Amino acid sequence: MGMLSLLLLFLAFIVAISGGSEVGDLRKIHSLRPQFGAAGTPVPGLSCLSWRLGVEAHNIIEWRTIPQVCEDYLGHYMIGHQYKKDSEAVAKEAFVYAQSLKLAKDGKDIWVFDIDETALSNLPYYADHGFGAEPYNPTLFKGWVNTGKAPPLPESLKLYKKLLSIGLKVVFLTGRPENQRNITTINLKNAGYHTWEKLILKGASASGTTAVVYKSSEREKMERNGYRIIGNIGDQWSDILGTPVGNRTFKLPDPMYYIN
Ligand SMILES: *[C@@H]1O[C@H](CO)[C@@H](O)[C@H](O)[C@H]1NC(C)=O
Ligand SMILES: *[C@@H]1O[C@H](CO)[C@@H](O)[C@H](O)[C@H]1NC(C)=O
Ligand SMILES: [Mg+2]
Repeated sequence: MGMLSLLLLFLAFIVAISGGSEVGDLRKIHSLRPQFGAAGTPVPGLSCLSWRLGVEAHNIIEWRTIPQVCEDYLGHYMIGHQYKKDSEAVAKEAFVYAQSLKLAKDGKDIWVFDIDETALSNLPYYADHGFGAEPYNPTLFKGWVNTGKAPPLPESLKLYKKLLSIGLKVVFLTGRPENQRNITTINLKNAGYHTWEKLILKGASASGTTAVVYKSSEREKMERNGYRIIGNIGDQWSDILGTPVGNRTFKLPDPMYYIN
């Protein structure tokens, strides 16, 4: 038996007698003291963080409301700095990518923006409705949309301006119904989105289809009309699933609601 085998055997023995305390072993490698909470006390919100990660990674799907116990956690996430920072990280990556491209400059290179929780933020509404803890109420939400007062998501607005500055055209593709075209136009302009190649709302013929099907079919139409979708950004997985989706997709955070 060579020296190496002996060493490995010895290490295996050490691991075996240490009772498989993997966390203890990791602490010998890195001096970090993870905050599990002392003596088994859970750190408030830790399980809600797992839930949020599951949602963002699309492991948790087709959920209707956020877990009631996570309302405070998500409120802090949305209104505190983290949501802003996470959105900023996405927008920055998107622009790094856009900047790296050689654009054709023939007016056919487009970037698709979703509207709700992407271009515009409905946080003032959701803050008043439990950050997604209350079941979706179409009447109340429609009332909010019709005020036309949704602020921009600041990171998306910055990205929008930068993309225009390098010669890209922007298409807004939203699940909002066609009868909200006027108020959406007014809201987008007031929020700082002053120009676009197209504003696509969900027409009567698409009502009843899922967002994935509707949005894919609209993107397909764009490509058939000669547009090249070089980027696509949205807060829902249904914005960035299907075919075609565009050369690259960017997922903004949204732990408040899920749209199929
Ligand atoms: C939307 O605006 C256009 C022109 O600005 C107007 O003709 C039309 O009636 C409006 N539609 C609705 C549903 O308000
Ligand atoms: C986008 O993807 C298509 C198909 O893969 C490719 O031909 C094209 O070069 C890509 N465009 C950019 C700008 O990367
Ligand atoms: Mg959205």
